[in-house]
This record gives sequence, structure tokens and C-alpha cells, in this order.
Amino acid sequence: MIAIYPGSFDPVTNGHLDIIERAAALFDEIIVAVAPNTGKEPLFSAEERKEMLIEACRGIDNVCIDSFEGLLVEYARKTKAQVIVKGLRALSDFQYEFEMALTNRKLSPSIETMFLMTCAENSYLSSSIVKEIAALGGSVVGLAPDFVAERLRQKAREGIRRDIP
Ligand code: PNS
Repeated sequence: MIAIYPGSFDPVTNGHLDIIERAAALFDEIIVAVAPNTGKEPLFSAEERKEMLIEACRGIDNVCIDSFEGLLVEYARKTKAQVIVKGLRALSDFQYEFEMALTNRKLSPSIETMFLMTCAENSYLSSSIVKEIAALGGSVVGLAPDFVAERLRQKAREGIRRDIP
């Protein structure tokens, strides 16, 4: 069975990687799909976000990295995915994820959304937090892969401090 794990991944964190690894153990194939336009101004371009995901997922055989425009359910139909995988952290995620899951079911009843609970260690982790720490000169070791930390430092050096909440 094919599953899609969609998101902004701006950038990929250890929380995302935990979900990808666990989903890869459950499904025949996981498509990690970068949504270029989610209404937020990204720090990294879609191409950069894909590159980082490819690097981070090296070694997981049944994962492929892609990007999509438009409706997620249309992309799921196109790729023959039957399941949308989402990670769930705190209660604060629930309302938004609940709305998206029900909207996607309304649009395409045959595509199921499955939530994987974050591991406790990553429950506070988000791309926004990782970006803010890096932009303010802090260390993101243990929060994101080392090469992502380096890409963040590079962005900080370039003086790009967009998307700081
Ligand atoms: O990592 P994010 O920003 O929470 O990911 C949100 C994402 C990309 C999963 C969501 O915005 C999405 O599915 N976008 C595609 C557009 C779509 O299908 N919208 C209708 C469903 S609510």
C-alpha cells in the first residue's frame, strides 16, 4: 500500500524523520510530498526542501521524495496512494489536523488519513522552532540532521531571517 506524508518541511526536522521512519515500516511505499505553497512564506525553496529530505532519507529504501501543487487528494489519486499520513504532536495540532482530515475525506472518501503520534522526545519540535533557534545563533543539534543545521547557519549568515514567528 502506498502512503503520502505531505507537509511544508521547511526544513525537515528529527520529528519529521521519526514519522517517516515509522511510516516506512508500515507501508510498502511512502511518498514524502513537499507542498510548495501553503500560504506561509518559506525560508527554503521547494527544491532546497526536497534536497534536504532526499539527503535525510537516504538509507530508507521505500521512501521517495516529491513535491505537488494543488489539492493533496488529487495528488494522492495521481500517485495511487490510499493513505495520507500525518504526525500528531500536542493538542494544539488537533483542531487543524481534524479539519484537514475531514475536508480531505469530503473531497475524496476513499483516501484515508492516518495519524502517527509523535514520540515524546519530539513532541515540542517544529520547523518554526528550529528556524528561530538557528536564526538567533543557537544550536539545533539533536533537533534536525547536522546538514540541515549547517544549511540553517548558512541562511542565518546570509542574513535571511524570514519566517521567524
Ligand atoms: O507541514 P504543514 O504546513 O502543516 O503541511 C500542510 C499541508 C501541505 C499538508 C496542507 O496545507 C495541504 O494538504 N495542502 C495542499 C492543499 C490542499 O489539499 N488543501 C485542502 C485540504 S485542507
